[in-house]
Amino acid sequence: MLTIAVSKGRIYEEALPFLEQAGIKPIDDPDTSRKLILQTTRDDVRLVIIRATDVPTFVEYGAADMGIAGKDVLLEHGGESLYEPLDLNIATCRLMTAAQVSAPEIKGRIRVATKYVKTAKSYFAERGIQADIIKLYGSMELAPLVGLADCIVDLVDTGNTLKANGLEPRELIMTISSRLVVNKAAMKMKHEAIQSLLDQFEKTLDQRR
Ligand code: ATP
Ligand code: PRP
Repeated sequence: MLTIAVSKGRIYEEALPFLEQAGIKPIDDPDTSRKLILQTTRDDVRLVIIRATDVPTFVEYGAADMGIAGKDVLLEHGGESLYEPLDLNIATCRLMTAAQVSAPEIKGRIRVATKYVKTAKSYFAERGIQADIIKLYGSMELAPLVGLADCIVDLVDTGNTLKANGLEPRELIMTISSRLVVNKAAMKMKHEAIQSLLDQFEKTLDQRR
């Protein structure tokens, strides 16, 4: 049995063609079912449906053999504990700093609101900028508007969320896409099954190029 960890919503929707290419279709729809373990049309593969940020943890501990997670989440998780053999090039966006439109650049110490604490810390440290990082779990865009922070570090795709809140993108930290991650022990113990899935995922990637 192979267990694949995936979060519902955006990543799942975009990962569907990869899973389908490998004959993996959940019997129940993850967007409507309350089940957390989904059997699939392949009886040797099941999906576990978890929060996007929990995917690396499940895979690291071997609770899932593989998973699909955003590079943003993987950077925050850190460490060398997972193989990351494929960039699926889905759920693409940019990790950026953003501030209120026309707000002047702050010279000294700045306050930054983000859920990407680790990534933000190293980004500002590398630039010699003293930054106090304030951890938030969502709605980062609100922080500059209410005086909680000078700027934010968050994901930007269309830019609509920033715009709707009177913010503008500033510096690009990194382009983001979702990656396939594999547990290191599973890669050895279930090599044949995992390699065959990787080959099928690669075929889908080739067809898209
Ligand atoms: P959680 O449920 O743990 O709070 P979340 O709400 O951030 O996570 P999603 O919004 O589904 O979960 O995002 C999952 C992943 O999709 C992110 O980690 C990122 O890699 C990518 N992503 C997030 N926002 C966008 C966006 N606007 N456009 C494209 N990809 C995005
Ligand atoms: C993400 C991100 C931004 C928004 C950016 O939020 O945190 O708020 O998308 O996308 P845009 O540039 O196209 O507007 P998401 O939609 O995942 O909402 P959530 O963080 O509340 O889950």
